[in-house]
Amino acid sequence: MRLKIAVLAGDGIGPEVTHEATKILRAVAELGGHDFTFTEALIGGVAITASGSPLPTATLDAALDSDAVLLGAVGDNKFNALTPDKRPEAGLLQIRQALGGFANLRPSLAFQALSASSPLRPEVTQNVDILFVRELLGGLYFGQPRWWNHETNEAINTMRYTKAEVVRVARIAFELASKRRKKVTSVDKANVLEVSQLWRAAVSEVAQDYPDVTLEHQLVDSMAMHLMNIPRNFDVVLTENLFGDILSDEAGVITGSLGMLPSATIGGAVNLYEPVHGSAPDIAGTGKANPLGAILTAAMVLRHSAHLEADARAIEQAVHSVLDAGYRTPDIAQAAAKGNTQTITTREMGKLVHQALVESIDRRQSMHAV
Ligand code: IPM
Ligand code: MG
Repeated sequence: MRLKIAVLAGDGIGPEVTHEATKILRAVAELGGHDFTFTEALIGGVAITASGSPLPTATLDAALDSDAVLLGAVGDNKFNALTPDKRPEAGLLQIRQALGGFANLRPSLAFQALSASSPLRPEVTQNVDILFVRELLGGLYFGQPRWWNHETNEAINTMRYTKAEVVRVARIAFELASKRRKKVTSVDKANVLEVSQLWRAAVSEVAQDYPDVTLEHQLVDSMAMHLMNIPRNFDVVLTENLFGDILSDEAGVITGSLGMLPSATIGGAVNLYEPVHGSAPDIAGTGKANPLGAILTAAMVLRHSAHLEADARAIEQAVHSVLDAGYRTPDIAQAAAKGNTQTITTREMGKLVHQALVESIDRRQSMHAV
């Protein structure tokens, strides 16, 4: 299997966590006899500093020339005074648009070993397994017009969707739900917004093609509450861009830390893979970053861009086993954890997952050899 991966580590903790994720991918390649190549390029604040642009042409070219893009994080407080189009985040939005992926998959799982890290009671988080499907190329993030008039002190952003944009992301949500627990919860604000009424109508139309999948509609405000009250009720959650941004961070509470959450964006020319967390400049370089979100993102690369499902699962299993053995980065260690846990660094965490992965792939290969 050949896979060309563009690695855009970005800002803050991006390079540290991406380093651990690529180490895991290299191990899978080596053990499975695959040919994975890694091309590094700049994005975000580091790209602005080096070249004046948050998405230099060389980076865009490398990304478009790859089979998968693995991104760390973007964002640096140094650029806070700039307008949105000049900030590091603009690089991320531009690359999302250029790659064309419109369905951002954000799994939100409750890890048994981390139940003490969530402020929610264990009986609330137990067995939670939600897959957010966040529309990524429409809504307020990209709608026109958008401006800020400093003379009149007025600003505008536009939440805009076409039916076709809703239909294509809804299809992905229903396809995924039909392979899971067969339920789609579509989130909108149809009691106030026309764009949500269009959203609801388009999703309901798609649902007719999937008679074995149950569709429910939730208003975004009550969804925010239900997500904390009864997260177990949800399977696939389909949202527009901003609602998905907000709710997927909220869902981090179920797992216990945003540092644990991976994502994959599919549907475009090249899939884009990024952990949900940001650049966390406050802990960059301290060894405190949790690399598990990035490592689980690497598993998604194998699942969605390489059809290496067994290896994707082996990575996820390795993460589970390291957590079960009590190892924690600081973000998942603080809460009153029961039993014997040990707080370790980004690198140590990466190394332990690597070891567990190598052992499990070795076991699988020797089983096949018998
Ligand atoms: C995310 C992030 C981004 C977003 C930012 C960094 C532009 O919050 O991926 O959730 O809003 O999409
Ligand atoms: Mg976000």
